[in-house]
Amino acid sequence: MTHQSISADLRLHLNWRCDRNAPYGDQQKAVIDTESRQMARRTIAAWPGYAPTPLVDLPGLAKELGVARIRIKHEAKRFTLKSFKALGGAYGVMRILQRETGASIDDIMAGKVKDKVAGVTVCCATDGNHGRAVAWGAQLAGARCVIYLHSHVSEGREAAIAAYGAEIARIDGNYDDSVRQAAEDAKANGWIVVSDTSWPGYEEIPAWVKQGYTVIMGEAMEQLGDDRPSHLFVQAGVGGLACAAIGPLWEDWGADRPFCTVVEPHEADCIYQSAVQGQMANGLGSLDTVMACLSAGEASPLAWAILQTGADAFITIDDHFSPGAMRRFAYGGEDGPMVVGESGCAGLAGLMAMAADPLAREAVGLGPDADVLLIASEGATDPSIYEEIIGKPADAVGETI
Ligand SMILES: Cc1ncc(COP(=O)(O)O)c(C=O)c1O
Repeated sequence: MTHQSISADLRLHLNWRCDRNAPYGDQQKAVIDTESRQMARRTIAAWPGYAPTPLVDLPGLAKELGVARIRIKHEAKRFTLKSFKALGGAYGVMRILQRETGASIDDIMAGKVKDKVAGVTVCCATDGNHGRAVAWGAQLAGARCVIYLHSHVSEGREAAIAAYGAEIARIDGNYDDSVRQAAEDAKANGWIVVSDTSWPGYEEIPAWVKQGYTVIMGEAMEQLGDDRPSHLFVQAGVGGLACAAIGPLWEDWGADRPFCTVVEPHEADCIYQSAVQGQMANGLGSLDTVMACLSAGEASPLAWAILQTGADAFITIDDHFSPGAMRRFAYGGEDGPMVVGESGCAGLAGLMAMAADPLAREAVGLGPDADVLLIASEGATDPSIYEEIIGKPADAVGETI
């Protein structure tokens, strides 16, 4: 196989820029390093309700897909927010408040600088999970929060964000229009935008967001113990989750890290296209995908700084794999049921697409001895879509984890 393979179901690009023996360098450490990971872990572990999310073994699924073992980090259990995004958006808010008030995060959380915190307004545009996380972080600390929603965001998602005390600004138009409006209003009013993606000149806050996400892999590396996985499949929108998973593995385990594959939908392929072209590039897809949270047209440059040489492979998959993976989780067979949403299951969807393609399997060494790590990045964050796909509501699935 050359470095690229393409079918209707699966496109695979092997990353020839990834030298597995290369050290984790300054470019990567500027985004995520041991110190920033430790600070995020210490801070987040002190929040009310913190507990590591479970690492779940799926022996039945491993048998079905012809690998030795599959373990999955269950981020639907992250605080009360049902997605890993809780870590990034809320941590970004705390770091902003620390910077703006000059107080420690401990003092902010203890309510010792209430008046100063109440004078800060954070805002962001979102189509769901990130806005919920920013609203939650602002509510935890007592700051004001305004969340911009475009016209396609469901009322269910709006209600979930408003429940955390955020003011909602509904914008005519699409996601990009809501991003523009949030930026304009922030500038006019002295508010602070909390974005999960970066652009030149706006890097500090999105780096904090990504550092918050590293708590997932920090916990996972402890839970995995000596049984290190041979493969990681991690889904990507702008690449924040993927860089926060791969960065720590690269920094701590070096060449012994798992073979890391970044998974995107065919129609939202900005990271895949960047890998193919060897530089940051826009996706070529329509952005219309059932994996709605992965629908990003441009990668985050900070994420790309880690992924461009840290990921071993990039794949895009057809949309049908996502409902298939959701159903496999919901009707879990001998593994028992798990509630995982459309974007949350994309790592498994990518593994299923690869497992069904003998050439692709061979190209990435996905044989009978493979020990695979996945991240279920969300639960049923949009309950009506979940029910439509699964045929019953999330609370009727019978998950006991
Ligand atoms: C559930 C879920 N999974 C994965 C992602 C992808 O994360 P990123 O955009 O950082 O690549 C998102 C992003 O919003 C998400 O909400």
